Amino acid sequence: MATTCTYTSVLCLSLAFLILGSSASSSEADILLSFKDSIQDPKNSLSSWSNSSNAHYCNWTGITCSTSPSLTVTSLNLQSLNLSGEISYSICDLANLALLNLADNFFNQPIPLHLSQCSSLESLNVSNNLIWGPIPDQISQFQSLRVLDFSKNHIEGRIPESIGSLVKLQVLNLGSNLLSGSVPTVFVNFTELVVLDLSQNLYLMSDVPSDIGRLGKLEQLLLQSSGFYGQIPHSFVGLQSLIILDLSQNNLSGVVPQTLGSSLKNLVSFDVSQNKLLGSFPNDICSAPGLKNLGLHTNFFNGSIPNSINECSNLERFQVQNNEFSGDFPGGLWSLSKIKLIRAENNRFSGALPDSMSMAAQLEQVQIDNNSFTGKIPQGLGLVKSLYRFSASLNGLYGELPPNFCDSPVMSIINLSHNSLSGQIPEMKKCRKLVSLSLANNSLTGEIPPSLADLPVLTYLDLSDNNLSGSIPEGLQNLKLALFNVSFNQLSGEVPPALVSGLPASFLEGNPSLCGPGLPKPCSDDLPRHRNSFGLSSLACALISIAFGLGILLVAAGFFVFNRSTKWKSEMGSWHSVFFYPLRVTEHDLVMGMDEKSAVGNGGAFGRVYTICLPSGELVAVKKLVNIGNQSPKALKSEVKTLAKIRHKNITKVLGFCHSEESIFLIYEYLQKGSLGDLISRPDFQLQWSDRLKIAIGVAQGLAYLHKHYVCHLLHRNIKSTNILLDEDFEPKLTDYSLDRIVGEAAFQTTVASESAFSCYNAPECGYTKKATEQMDVYSFGVVLLELIAGRQADRAESADCGDILKWVRRKINIRNGAVQVLDSKISNSSQQEMLAALDIAIHCTSVLPEKRPSILEVTRSLQSLVSKTHVSDSYLSTLEENSVPV
Ligand SMILES: *[C@@H]1O[C@H](CO)[C@@H](O)[C@H](O)[C@H]1NC(C)=O
Ligand SMILES: *[C@@H]1O[C@H](CO)[C@@H](O)[C@H](O)[C@H]1NC(C)=O
Ligand SMILES: *[C@@H]1O[C@H](CO)[C@@H](O)[C@H](O)[C@H]1NC(C)=O
Ligand SMILES: *[C@@H]1O[C@H](CO)[C@@H](O)[C@H](O)[C@H]1NC(C)=O
Ligand SMILES: *[C@@H]1O[C@H](CO)[C@@H](O)[C@H](O)[C@H]1NC(C)=O
Ligand SMILES: *[C@@H]1O[C@H](CO)[C@@H](O)[C@H](O)[C@H]1NC(C)=O
Ligand SMILES: *[C@@H]1O[C@H](CO)[C@@H](O)[C@H](O)[C@H]1NC(C)=O
Ligand SMILES: *[C@@H]1O[C@H](CO)[C@@H](O)[C@H](O)[C@H]1NC(C)=O
Ligand SMILES: *[C@@H]1O[C@H](CO)[C@@H](O)[C@H](O)[C@H]1NC(C)=O
Repeated sequence: MATTCTYTSVLCLSLAFLILGSSASSSEADILLSFKDSIQDPKNSLSSWSNSSNAHYCNWTGITCSTSPSLTVTSLNLQSLNLSGEISYSICDLANLALLNLADNFFNQPIPLHLSQCSSLESLNVSNNLIWGPIPDQISQFQSLRVLDFSKNHIEGRIPESIGSLVKLQVLNLGSNLLSGSVPTVFVNFTELVVLDLSQNLYLMSDVPSDIGRLGKLEQLLLQSSGFYGQIPHSFVGLQSLIILDLSQNNLSGVVPQTLGSSLKNLVSFDVSQNKLLGSFPNDICSAPGLKNLGLHTNFFNGSIPNSINECSNLERFQVQNNEFSGDFPGGLWSLSKIKLIRAENNRFSGALPDSMSMAAQLEQVQIDNNSFTGKIPQGLGLVKSLYRFSASLNGLYGELPPNFCDSPVMSIINLSHNSLSGQIPEMKKCRKLVSLSLANNSLTGEIPPSLADLPVLTYLDLSDNNLSGSIPEGLQNLKLALFNVSFNQLSGEVPPALVSGLPASFLEGNPSLCGPGLPKPCSDDLPRHRNSFGLSSLACALISIAFGLGILLVAAGFFVFNRSTKWKSEMGSWHSVFFYPLRVTEHDLVMGMDEKSAVGNGGAFGRVYTICLPSGELVAVKKLVNIGNQSPKALKSEVKTLAKIRHKNITKVLGFCHSEESIFLIYEYLQKGSLGDLISRPDFQLQWSDRLKIAIGVAQGLAYLHKHYVCHLLHRNIKSTNILLDEDFEPKLTDYSLDRIVGEAAFQTTVASESAFSCYNAPECGYTKKATEQMDVYSFGVVLLELIAGRQADRAESADCGDILKWVRRKINIRNGAVQVLDSKISNSSQQEMLAALDIAIHCTSVLPEKRPSILEVTRSLQSLVSKTHVSDSYLSTLEENSVPV
């Protein structure tokens, strides 16, 4: 019996223990579960929070318990879980909860004031939620808080004075909110404060509370991009522990306290950029008095800084750009051992750059453009191996470029334009990462160093407005230069042919001795070689005759101007010809070539196009126009020359022409893939959206070049998909452009009227105005864009209403969800948003009212914005530096 009894009581005891034990622990678990009840958790991140799960609640997601003196929840970290709903008061029942982090969620409510009931709470982080409304006076109830992070919410209104009662605060972050008014002077109480962040509060209108200067433990003071005005308080000299000071992008004015420099001994980052600060900068900042007196700052100094000098010895970033500072730039900065970044552009600083720069062994980036710096580029510059950007344009720097000025192996951007530099440009061999070099507007002499051509990523090269002489190094044409400017120098000789294409002509101007295509001066030494060939020809174009029999002579020239008229009689009449390219073709080839077999397409309004194969295997396209106009030969020649000077990657080149009284042959470069029109009309037409967008952008760019950038401001007047040729990579090229210039306006109008009056590409106003406009081209472009979007031809012969794509599109988009039906169904849905945006552009281009159509430049920009930003070259440049663009 006794055994039974004992057994029972043991059982009872253990049962009781079980019940007790479970009820003790279930209370914290219950608190957590009831907290979870009011939270929406779309990702089911809190699935472990369940009394059915085997895990102990201390092992639930985000929970940390302390083990001594007893097992109890001390920290709840639920950041970045897409949570929303309500932050329930019940969480304060966790008696030992010290840390609550709900950052990066979607809590959408006023400041959760009830959390001030959590008696042990020390750290509250609700950063980056949707918290709204003002900070209530009762904020003072958070007596126990050390860390308060309300940043990145929609908190508005004034900061209440009562916040001054939070005397234990170490971190106060109210950054990136909508706070307004002036900041109360309550900081005297915050003796423990280490981080104060009031940045990015655009509606603040406040002077900088001077009692911030009493925060002896403050390490980070972040007041940037808020509405602070007035002076930097003199009291800031008391911020002895400060590591990061950011006062940038405010409305601060006045002078910087003169003793500030010597006070901020631990500073790593100093940023007062983009204010209205003025006067001379405290010259003692970071200076080493001993060294200065010895004059070492202006001489080459080759040694370590004595240990006793610890001022600014931690400084890495110094940013004072875009203010109104004047006077000497603090010279001590240039030789700090940890300095990485110096930005002082757009001030009026004076002074010289000391040779002791070589001691700044960590220096990465220097921007001091648009100041009054004088003196020479220091020899020390080339010894800094980490320097990747040095831009000092618009200063008074003079003397020669030191031979080592581009020796840093990571150097990417150099801009010394608009100074008074003289002497020669040194050979630059070591800076293999150089992307951008601008030495424009100096007095440099000598030749362009051929070694520039060996810099593999050089993309921007501006040497304009100097006194450079000699020829342009042949090798430069092998670089992928996006900008190349040597205008206004004394360069001479032949321009390397490949440099010319795709770049605007103005980059060569002001060099009277340069010769080549597109320049006033042809390379005259080419002419004698061709003279021999005259008289050999008897048929068709003189072009044949020139090359006939000595075509080989022309091989070397590559790309040059041959500009000479020949004349002879045949049964076809008197022929004149002008060529801009060495066409290695025999007369036989050409004449035999121009037959039905070589005819391309069914011939446009103005005449047929023939493909002629040159013996070299090269193909050219020859357009035969009926010369019904009565342009004088002289006018005709000058007009074709105008067209032949066009150099743009999206416009086919005119290689030459010849004409008689009856006909004009225009010789164009040939493109393998044929026209966009041919492509679209194929039953199996299939082209992914990125290629179609590329074609649209190319066409827009070519057109924009004609309208806006080409000196003569041409109109195309005949844009349609059959006049858009494609190369291997689907890069489009406009052809058949500006034929009005060739045949004359009257003949042009007649032809248009007779053959294409009802073309879908013609703007409605074509019917009643005689004057051609840019808007008409934009309209035609819009139709082509619609063809690309819809994947169908505009002009479909079989359909009665000229297959009017526009009517069809307008009908569709007027019904619900109709726009989507316009999109080519062969393209995957993932491109739908972009295609709809392009459709919108096309609709604007084809507005019935000409004045409602955008300019082609606007169209180009809109289309470009649809391209996902993944281009290699772009991303390369943007990795150079985040917040400044090299060009
Ligand atoms: C979480 O939120 C982000 C941002 O709104 C959203 O993109 C993502 O789809 C959400 N995840 C889930 C599972 O809801
Ligand atoms: C979990 O606990 C809640 C209340 O604390 C209770 O209503 C519920 O039935 C419990 N679920 C399970 C599976 O025990
Ligand atoms: C939490 O889980 C770990 C292993 O998963 C286990 O060792 C530990 O005992 C658990 N803690 C509690 C309090 O249950
Ligand atoms: C609050 O949480 C965010 C998001 O994790 C974090 O970036 C921030 O540093 C936290 N604030 C504090 C004061 O620790
Ligand atoms: C400083 O804190 C005390 C005690 O909380 C409070 O009474 C006082 O108003 C505070 N001072 C300021 C300037 O906020
Ligand atoms: C900057 O301050 C001046 C007066 O000091 C004021 O007129 C101006 O509106 C302020 N600008 C901004 C953007 O706050
Ligand atoms: C100067 O520095 C160079 C390179 O670091 C070193 O080779 C040379 O010995 C140094 N000269 C003196 C005088 O210290
Ligand atoms: C140069 O700086 C002045 C202010 O010092 C500014 O007004 C001017 O626009 C700047 N020039 C350039 C080209 O940035
Ligand atoms: C070089 O500086 C000048 C003047 O500040 C500026 O106009 C030009 O865009 C800069 N060039 C490059 C390539 O950064």
